[in-house]
Amino acid sequence: MKNIVILISGRGSNMEAIIKAQLPNVRIAAVISNQAHAAGLDFAQKNGIATHVVDHKAYPNRLAFDEALIQTIDAYAPDCVVLAGFMRILTSEFTTHYQNRLVNIHPSLLPAFTGLNTHQRAIDMGCKVAGCTIHLVTADLDHGPILAQGVVSITPEETASSLAAKVLAVEHQLYPQAIQAFLCGQLWLENQHIKGELSPKRFYP
Ligand code: GRF
Repeated sequence: MKNIVILISGRGSNMEAIIKAQLPNVRIAAVISNQAHAAGLDFAQKNGIATHVVDHKAYPNRLAFDEALIQTIDAYAPDCVVLAGFMRILTSEFTTHYQNRLVNIHPSLLPAFTGLNTHQRAIDMGCKVAGCTIHLVTADLDHGPILAQGVVSITPEETASSLAAKVLAVEHQLYPQAIQAFLCGQLWLENQHIKGELSPKRFYP
């Protein structure tokens, strides 16, 4: 059995998808939020999962917050820490501590459109496709070895919100699948690249 801890800041729909997927041999040990009122906490509690709030505002700086977060996470001895809409920039101390076992989902086809407002930026650039990327987290924001990507097309009448909805639907299918594949060794890290592949490769057009 592999233990994972999920970090959220808000809605938590990716966390919900991971819980609902009931991944074999994966135990969701805890869900932790930096926001006391994150909607996702409720869903986790209703599913019998331990929840914690580590409020970043209670700490004098990023490092003090990250140290408190590490303490809370490590009580569950996770094999993998899953960022699911966790809206904090993490220190290199944190990313190093969880090196090669910290995963994130980003709503763009990285390395394009790191940061925020990814969907509007993709539309403004005239991109014909968009998508999401699941990657290992390094100290470099929205970079790191890519585990999986899902692609959707951008139609001429696309808006940022219609694109966000399309991409989110793919996120919900791909994130549980990628976590499972990484934890069971179907995907693995070799020379800073992810090897192996997801099957089926449903999210490539
Ligand atoms: C998702 O779009 C994810 O790609 C990004 O933050 C959003 C989180 O949504 N990292 P949710 O909280 O999982 O609903």
